[in-house]
Amino acid sequence: MKKHVAVIGTGYVGLVTGACLAEIGHSVVCVDSDKKKVQMLRRGVIPIYEPGLDKVVVKNSRLKRLFFTDRLLEGLDRAEIVFIAVNTPPLPNGEADLSYVETVAKQVAQNMKRYTVVVEKSTVPVNTGEKVKQTMRLYGKEHNGFDVVSNPEFLREGSAVEDFLKPDRIVIGVDSKRADKMMRELYAPFKGKLLVTDIKSAELIKHSSNSFLATKISFINAVANVCECVGADVNLVAQGMGMDPRIGKSFLKAGLGFGGSCFPKDLRAYIKMAEQSGYHFDLLKTVQKINEDQHNWAIQQLKKALWNLKGKVVGVWGLAFKPNTDDLRNAPALSIIEKLLQEGSVVRVYDPVAMPKAKSILKNVVYCKNPYEAAQKADAVLLATEWEEFKKLNLKRIKTHMQTPVFLDGRNLYEPASMAAMGYQYHSVGRPNP
Ligand SMILES: NC(=O)c1ccc[n+]([C@@H]2O[C@H](COP(=O)([O-])OP(=O)(O)OC[C@H]3O[C@@H](n4cnc5c(N)ncnc54)[C@H](O)[C@@H]3O)[C@@H](O)[C@H]2O)c1
Repeated sequence: MKKHVAVIGTGYVGLVTGACLAEIGHSVVCVDSDKKKVQMLRRGVIPIYEPGLDKVVVKNSRLKRLFFTDRLLEGLDRAEIVFIAVNTPPLPNGEADLSYVETVAKQVAQNMKRYTVVVEKSTVPVNTGEKVKQTMRLYGKEHNGFDVVSNPEFLREGSAVEDFLKPDRIVIGVDSKRADKMMRELYAPFKGKLLVTDIKSAELIKHSSNSFLATKISFINAVANVCECVGADVNLVAQGMGMDPRIGKSFLKAGLGFGGSCFPKDLRAYIKMAEQSGYHFDLLKTVQKINEDQHNWAIQQLKKALWNLKGKVVGVWGLAFKPNTDDLRNAPALSIIEKLLQEGSVVRVYDPVAMPKAKSILKNVVYCKNPYEAAQKADAVLLATEWEEFKKLNLKRIKTHMQTPVFLDGRNLYEPASMAAMGYQYHSVGRPNP
């Protein structure tokens, strides 16, 4: 059954949610306070890099199922379901800053025209649903009525459209029959994938899932360190572990650690929230520590190979926190580049899509047109993001551009034996050199 939906906040999550809800037949108005973003979207220009998203946006805008506005009132005009998809950045103490969520809840309460289901789409700590309800009651008009629902988002940047349209699960935390029915109707095409819970459990599912995935990454990076100590190969260890279905093979890739807008932030928020609720989640603190150590590991490896880094030229391939996205938030590459600059290195960078965004935040580096240029006169090359295009490079040619053939593969993209055969001094994560 077609629903009228408003999505407040048209970032990664809001835009994908809005566009994909329109794709499955609903009428959606995406609202964002950023006027420039709205103007771009109205012209069919997508402000983020996300494969396939442009087609869904253009198609549904043309079919008049998807609209963009910077005016909340316009968004609420016909809305019966309102998604809150604004940012929840970390405060200095690690807690999630929920002031954006509060602002939207207040504005929706003051301006909604009818009974409305207000959906938390942003990643929020447990009990935020209660706070949203409290805010809605405080500022709302009594005769309208509302329900609050938690519907955490599990999409992955880089495959967000597919993740939304072919979900593993859709979690709906709800405490009213009316809202339950509306949410089931909204997600009718994904009927078999629905898990309906209470609101607090739904909120916890999101933070627990992200923290568990981060734990898997830190676990395998810790194993990689052991492999380096004893001369074993972490890829083989991970393969052997992953064949056990209870463990599973995903998120067992050793590398420079996790980044992005979610894992680091959600981990901090979960630790803080657990602490405030009376539990010290020490396991997650160690997960954080192992992740940060991976950035230092990269510097240590370069120092081992080059001795002093002052004045040394380091080419960095890949800036985005993972391939297929231009998202640089908490990207390991940025933290490592920062450390290299502190050491006095000259850093030459290349990323297939994240360069325009990088230019506004990363100064004092040399931006290069391609990986070959980034390797020019380099004392070492560091591969920080495993973009597909890096698999197809002429590595023999690259070597001829370099000052010294030191290669630090932070994502285990290449084979140690073939790199050594080409004459590289090759170092990767948790794998022995031939
Ligand atoms: N990015 C991801 O991969 C991902 C995945 C799952 C969940 N999440 C969660 O979803 C939420 C949103 O993340 P994001 O990456 O889309 O953030 P984002 O920063 O890309 O987008 C947030 C948008 O909200 C807008 N906004 C802020 N206040 C507003 C207001 N009062 N009215 C209208 N618009 C407003 C901003 O202008 C911005 O465009 C966060 O809680 C995040 O943790 C993100």
